[in-house]
Amino acid sequence: MDIPHIPVLLNETVDLYKKNMKNNGYFIDCTLGFGGHSEKILEIFPNIKLIGIDQDKEAMDFAKKRLKKYSNRVEFINKRASDALKELKGFDISGVLADIGVSSYQLDNKERGFTFDADTLDMRMNKNQKFSAYDVINFYDRNQLEDVLKKYAEERQFKKIADFIIKNRPVNSNRELADILHKAGVKDKKRMAPIFQAIRIEVNNELKELENILDNVENIAKNGTILGIISFHSLEDRIVKNRFKEWARKCICPPEAFRCECGGDNQKGVILSKKPIIATKEEINNNPRSRSAKLRGFKFTKGENG
Ligand SMILES: C[S@@+](CC[C@H](N)C(=O)[O-])C[C@H]1O[C@@H](n2cnc3c(N)ncnc32)[C@H](O)[C@@H]1O
Repeated sequence: MDIPHIPVLLNETVDLYKKNMKNNGYFIDCTLGFGGHSEKILEIFPNIKLIGIDQDKEAMDFAKKRLKKYSNRVEFINKRASDALKELKGFDISGVLADIGVSSYQLDNKERGFTFDADTLDMRMNKNQKFSAYDVINFYDRNQLEDVLKKYAEERQFKKIADFIIKNRPVNSNRELADILHKAGVKDKKRMAPIFQAIRIEVNNELKELENILDNVENIAKNGTILGIISFHSLEDRIVKNRFKEWARKCICPPEAFRCECGGDNQKGVILSKKPIIATKEEINNNPRSRSAKLRGFKFTKGENG
C-alpha cells in the first residue's frame, strides 16, 4: 500500500500515551488522516478501541483500508472534529490526539488546490464546505485581506500584497495568485509558503476550530484522559500552551484579586511536557514537513467523573 503521508513525531506521540495512558477504553483520533498514528496506537494498546475522525472523506477511505485488520476495534466519523467530539460525551475516553493541519496528500495533490501551481483556488480540507480560497482572494475587502496576511503569515508587506491582489482580481487559480505575489515582490517560495498557509488557515477556520476542539475535549474528558496536540503554526502552539496552562491552574481568580476567592480547587489536570516536543534532526531530514511540528501533552485528573 502506497502511503501518501508520513506521520510526524510518531515515536514521541506514541511514547506520550505509552507512559501515561491505560490500556482500555476509547482512543479518539480527531485527525485520522491516513491512519499512521492510529495504526501504532492500535498495535501497542490491544485493549483500546479507536474512533477515527476526519472531515476529509478521501483520507478516511484510505485509513479504513489501512486499519482493516483492526476493524472490530475501530469506528469512523466523517465530520469536523469539533462537531464529532460533541457526540462522544459519556464515553470512557482514555486518549485523544489531534494532529492538526493538512496531510501531505492534501498538500501535494494539485486538484485539492493547496500547491503553488494548482489550477484552482480552493484549499478546503472538507470538500462539502462551500467557502474556499476563491472567496477569500476575490471577495474579502482590503481590511480583511490585510488581516489574514498580517496575522497568519506575519507578512510585513501585508498592505502592498493585499493591494496587488485586489488590483488583479478576479484571480482564478493558485498559479495566478503565485504570479501576483511574485509581481508584488514575493519572489521565493520560503516567503510565499506562509502566505498560502495563511489563506488555508482562513479558509478552514483552523484557529477557531482548534479552540473548539479544546473546549469539547474539556467537556468530555474523564479522570486520566491523555490529550496530545501536534501543531504546525506558532499561533496554534500558543493556543494549546495557554489552554494547558489555564487547565493546570488551581486558582482562577483574576490576577488583581486581593486574595483567592475561587476556592483554589480548579485544576483540571497536569501538563505532561513543560516544553513542546519537536522533531529530531533525523526526522526533519527524512520528512521536512516535521520541522515546524510541536507536540504538547496534558493529563486530565479531574474530568467528567472527577
Ligand atoms: C496532518 S493530517 C493527520 C495525519 C495522521 N495523523 C496520519 O498519521 O496519517 C491532518 C488530517 O486531519 C484532518 N483535519 C484537520 N483538521 C481537522 C478537523 N478540525 N476536523 C476533522 N479533520 C481534520 C485533515 O483533513 C487531514 O486529513
